[in-house]
Amino acid sequence: MTAAEAAGEQARHQHGGHRVINPAVLYVGTPVLLLASRNDDGGANLAPASSYWALGRMLALGLEADGHTLANLRERPQLTVNFPSPPLWPAVEQIADLTGKPEVPEAKAARYAYSADKFAAAGLTPQPSDLVDPPRVLECLLQLEAQVRRVTPGVTGDYAIVEAEVVRVHADSRIVRDGDHIDPLAWQPIVYSFRHYFGIGEPLGARGSAAPSPADRWAEEQEEPEGGDAACWLASICPECGAMREATGACRRCGAA
Ligand SMILES: Cc1cc2nc3c(=O)[nH]c(=O)nc-3n(C[C@H](O)[C@H](O)[C@H](O)COP(=O)(O)O)c2cc1C
Repeated sequence: MTAAEAAGEQARHQHGGHRVINPAVLYVGTPVLLLASRNDDGGANLAPASSYWALGRMLALGLEADGHTLANLRERPQLTVNFPSPPLWPAVEQIADLTGKPEVPEAKAARYAYSADKFAAAGLTPQPSDLVDPPRVLECLLQLEAQVRRVTPGVTGDYAIVEAEVVRVHADSRIVRDGDHIDPLAWQPIVYSFRHYFGIGEPLGARGSAAPSPADRWAEEQEEPEGGDAACWLASICPECGAMREATGACRRCGAA
């Protein structure tokens, strides 16, 4: 780099300009998922993932080529896609370094261990699905049952793209509004951004609508505490185990009163 270029670069930094970097990951922020698939022996595997997009009823997932989930989906092309809410992030972490592959792949050997039952390892509960074989995750407020339609090897060989059709959607009644709509104020995914977990925070506004936006509703609810309480999911967190729970009755996950 010449002196002039160095001076230019320094000036750019001083003024908050961009610089060329080489980050290890490009995880800018996507939802955390828990993928359930069926093992050879009839047990269920559960794996965190976040490489996800959806268009219409089709999902695309990016899965590592050496993962047990991908092996299961190639053999038995059904899965459930479960979306944990922020209180469940410790459960996700609990199984982050586990694989359902009995022989841990060499590339993962230093950090990963085998687990035959990641539902138990995460402290989560399998819940039977309606239309696919793998179970759902009871504690997740939003769950998709899906049929794999195509698995495409990735260009580098170390991942594959799984395209799956959603055949059933299950949503906890606390996050449903006006029939079939997910209430964006009640629903909170976990967002995985540069290897950190986040909630989605306060709404900025609704897309392309003159109707009151979630941001307006949120602002109104701040002025009226009663309304705010009803829509806020925080009031539904079990203080014992962090699971979402009904306003009355024992916690479904840990049984706390
Ligand atoms: C938050 C989070 C997001 C992840 N996202 C992905 C992903 O999108 N695709 C993937 O293949 N692995 C992802 N992983 C890594 C897998 O969960 C990990 O490799 C796990 O061992 C896979 O389990 P399995 O071998 O039983 O399928 C993610 C892990 C965490 C903790």
